This record gives sequence, structure tokens and C-alpha cells, in this order.
Amino acid sequence: MCGIVGYVGPRPATSIVVNGLQRLEYRGYDSAGIAVLHEDRIHVRRDAGKLSNLIALLAQQPIDGNLALGHTRWATHGRPSQQNAHPHSDASGEIVVVQNGIVENYRELRESLQAEGIEFRSETDTEVIVHLLALNYSAAGGLAEAVRKTMGHLKGPSAIVAMTSREPDRLVAARLGNAGGVAIGLGDGETFVASDIPAILEHTRRMVFLEDGQVALITRDGVQVETLAGQAVKPEIHLIPWDPISAAKGEFRHFMQKEIFEQARSVTDTIRGRVDFDAGEVVLGQLNLSPERARSFNRIVIVACGTSAYAGLVGKFLLEAIARIPTEVDYGSEFRYRDPIIDEQTLLLAITQSGETVDTLAAMEEGRNKGAFVVSIVNSIGSQAARVSDGVITMHCGPEIGVASTKAFTTSVVDQYLLALALAQARDSIGPAHRRRLLNDLAHLPRLIGQVLDPNDNALYLDLAERFHGYRNFLFLGRGINYPIALEGALKLKEISYIHAEGYPAGEMKHGPIALIDREMPVVAIAVQDSVYDKMISQIEQVKARSGIVIAVASEGDEFIASKADHVITVPSAPPLLTPVLSVLPLQRLAYEIAVWRGADVDQPRNLAKSVTVE
Ligand code: G6P
Repeated sequence: MCGIVGYVGPRPATSIVVNGLQRLEYRGYDSAGIAVLHEDRIHVRRDAGKLSNLIALLAQQPIDGNLALGHTRWATHGRPSQQNAHPHSDASGEIVVVQNGIVENYRELRESLQAEGIEFRSETDTEVIVHLLALNYSAAGGLAEAVRKTMGHLKGPSAIVAMTSREPDRLVAARLGNAGGVAIGLGDGETFVASDIPAILEHTRRMVFLEDGQVALITRDGVQVETLAGQAVKPEIHLIPWDPISAAKGEFRHFMQKEIFEQARSVTDTIRGRVDFDAGEVVLGQLNLSPERARSFNRIVIVACGTSAYAGLVGKFLLEAIARIPTEVDYGSEFRYRDPIIDEQTLLLAITQSGETVDTLAAMEEGRNKGAFVVSIVNSIGSQAARVSDGVITMHCGPEIGVASTKAFTTSVVDQYLLALALAQARDSIGPAHRRRLLNDLAHLPRLIGQVLDPNDNALYLDLAERFHGYRNFLFLGRGINYPIALEGALKLKEISYIHAEGYPAGEMKHGPIALIDREMPVVAIAVQDSVYDKMISQIEQVKARSGIVIAVASEGDEFIASKADHVITVPSAPPLLTPVLSVLPLQRLAYEIAVWRGADVDQPRNLAKSVTVE
């Protein structure tokens, strides 16, 4: 959730850290702060609110040096205020720390520290860490040792980075549990640390990722990694293929807009190199699944959160239709609290863009402990989800910065299509000719996506945004494989425009939501020409009979629906299993334009965060 950036090297550190924080602001924007070592003393600047407040403060009170540490906060303990902003300092001001995570036992720790006469200046859980560091520092042989000792006292997932004016050549980072990533970027005579790759990608693509229970000593010469018990670990260096340009907004007004319009490319990238169209075969290099094991599964359980969970609901249709394996979908946050029935014959599929969502990680652990084969569909290379999985399918959609997920949704649906085909291949559930046909369908998908994402269509979305931005409630209806798209469309709208929206299975409308229909409640109906088209038309009729307003997402050339609905957005016809990838696109665009019209903060919607590393 929170974002961390640190730097040690010959260059002026403040701008490197602040630029990095700008790239991480999607992780939290309740407050921001920086600590810089200048002439043997640590200077801290921090402020409540967005990073722009810190930047303004730095303009008034500039500070620079060659060692610095910054933070953007998503508040867990203590309201967003200047006092609660990180970095936190010990009483001497010689040690500072930033944290991403939660110290679950902070109350006991705080009380015992207070009993020793230590004064607290914030309401945060993080402040206990810095006081513990100060206490342990004198007994320990330096900062790294003090961090190791301190981590031993903490309960709960936590990633920290600390620095001290007594050791001006280093930062020390540590990770406990699933607190979110710690990426250490190796430069030439300089080293970076960050909670997410895009923060430091412009400087280096060579990264080391800290595992649970590891401590890193970071100097300009590189990194030394040890376990909490002090055992040296050889760091594995990953080469990140993303280019820094793809992590920048370019000519787009918002990251979300850029990411929406990138989807033809991201879907192409996720298919590329994985499909032999002639043979009708799919090769997923990191799936690590033998045909025997693939044949042994009697069910698939998908675990995910948010938009990824809705992608999983689409995946259920794909996996059942293509691989013929019974599939269920659960929220990571619910799964482990119901003692799920999982065994060696279960394929547990986790979908997570960040690879850091703590509830999804916990569900994966539960599945693994019960013997399931764990596969993850992830976007963040080197993330915790990727590391703890038996097999991985990478989304290949490049960094997704907008808090509201868009391109990760469509690529993870396509990845599930590929997984379904790979399983079908191993289990012989459909023949090669059928597989070739399904792959051929996939080959046309990027072109069809490009048609829905024609920027020249923007007038239609602007018109709808102008008409509908003032409404307070929306209902989204879909059926069959497009029911999850109704859920996703509603989620997009509420996330970024703060308009209440509900997604509902269209056939269930008559059991409740129909009571809400009036002129004040626009209904977005996904009514593309598929096997449930006629049923969707009946539902549209039911809404119209109650004077409701209908915005339909329909197949191109459907004159009939144009006579029924008040507004129509068309998508090209597509094979039934791929329609969700197209029908979600207009809903992303609609939500985006309505949010922009309302002046909402599209990339950083209030109260949300991109990587949810707390329960
Ligand atoms: C947060 C984000 C959503 C995302 C969800 C799951 O709520 O705001 O956009 O869908 O987490 O994230 P994941 O990284 O696990 O896909």
C-alpha cells in the first residue's frame, strides 16, 4: 500500500527519491515525506496530503545529499497528518525509518517503550520500529544488526527501510511476511530501493527482490542480503524487461486513459510467443505443469480480489468450456475463513496484477498447505505471488499505474483462455481442430480491441459523460459470461467517479433491483449477440416498461437494439468466449469520461490503493 523509495550514490538524492515517489503515489496519497543526509545530519521534510505538498515544502526548505529515503502513505494507524507522515525519527534524530505494512503488536510494544520513558510523537504503529532500532542500535554492531533484532520483535507483515547518520554510506531494508515488495535496483556505483519497480526503472533494470525474513544492506556498491538469523544469502539478480517509457504517462491525460488505450498491445504481448497457431498448441513456459499432473485435477479454484476476482469469474466460463474442469471463484479475503475443501487434485489459480495483495497471498498459502498445485497469473515480475507459485503465467501488460485496473483485467482473461487451452491440450478435452479454431479466434482479438478503442469515437463517450455525470446511481446488467462484465463496469464507475453503481445478473433483476428502476437510475445493459441475447432484450424491455433509461453495449449492426435502448455503444461481433474482452472496454471508457467530467482524481481515487498489502 504505502510507497517507499531510497537512494545511495554520488548523485543528488532528493530529486531521485521524489521522482520515484511520484511513480508510486498510486500506492497511497495520505501524506508524503523524505529524509536526507546532509552534512552528517538527517533532515526530514514531510507533510499531510499528496506528494505535491511535500514538493512545495521542499521548494521552500530545500535539502539535498547523497543518501535519502522517501515515503508515500496509505494510512492504517493514525489519521493522515504531518505528524503521522513517514519517515519517523528516534529521539536523537539520528535514525529514521519508513514502513509499508502493519505492526500488529504495536500496542504492547508502544506500552513497554513508554514504560522505559520513550516519548511518542505520532499515532502510528511505525514509530515503535524506530524507537526499537534506537534501543537495539547501541547493543548491536550497526544498523543492519539493529534492524535484524528489531524485526524479531514485530508481528504482522512489514517492509521497512532505515538509515542513520552514524553510517552515512548505507540504507538497510527488511521484509517480514507479505508486506509488499522490496525491489533493490543495482546501478553503476549507485543503488536504489523501492516498493515497486516503476519507481526506479528509469535508473536500472537490474533488480534484486527481498524475500520474507530477509535483510538487505544497501550501499553504492550493491547489496548484501542476509536472513533475520544473520545467514548470508546470494542475491538473485532479475533483469526487468519493461522500458521506462511504458511506465510514463506520455501524451495521455491520465495513466488510466493510457492503460485503456494500450489494451490491443498488451493483449498482443500476452499472446505473443505462447501460441503455435498451426499446431493448435499453447506453450506456457513457466507453468511447470506435467501432462500427468494436468490430468489429475478434478477442480480449479480461482482466488483473487477486486478486478482480478471479476477476471476470474470470466475465467470460470473459459476453463469450464475449454478445459472441462469444474471451476469456482472466491475472494482471497473470504477463502481461508471457511476451511475450503482443497487437495492434491485441485488447481489453485491466483490472479493478481501486483502479486502483492495480502488476501490473495494468504489464500495461496492456504491452498499450498492443503496440497493444491498453485498457479498465479501476475503482472509484477519478481512479486511474492510469482515466487511462491508452482507455476506462473505473466500478464505481459507492462506496469499498470492507474489505481483502477484496466489492461490487467483483459490480459488476465486472455491468460486464462491460454491456460484453459493448455489444460485442454494435456487432458485431450478438445481435439486439435477445435483448439486451432479457438486460437484463430484469439489471433483476431487485438484487432477487434483496436476497433473498440478508436479514439475517434470519443465524442460518443463525452456525450454520455455530459448527460450522465450528475446521476447518483447506476445499475449494470449482464448475463452469462458477460455478467462479470456488469460487475466490473459497476466497479470501475464507483472506484473513480464515486457514483454508486451495482452490477447484477440480468435475470435476477426481477427479484429485487427492478424496484429501483426509474428515470433517476440509468441501466447499462450488456446485450451483445450471444446465446443470451434474446433474454437480455427481454430485460431491456422490462426496464423500458418502467420508464428506465437504458445504455446498451451491443454488437455492431444491431438495428433492433437501437430501437429499444436510449443510447447504444457498439462493439464488433466476436466469438462467444471472447466477448467479455470487448464488452468491458466501453465500460472502462464510460467510467473514465464520467470521472473526468466530474473532476475526480482518476489515477488516485480517494481511499483506494493499487496494492493492498493489509488485510
Ligand atoms: C486493489 C486495486 C484494484 C485491484 C485489486 C486486486 O483494490 O485498487 O484495482 O483489482 O486491488 O489487486 P491485484 O494486484 O491482486 O490484482
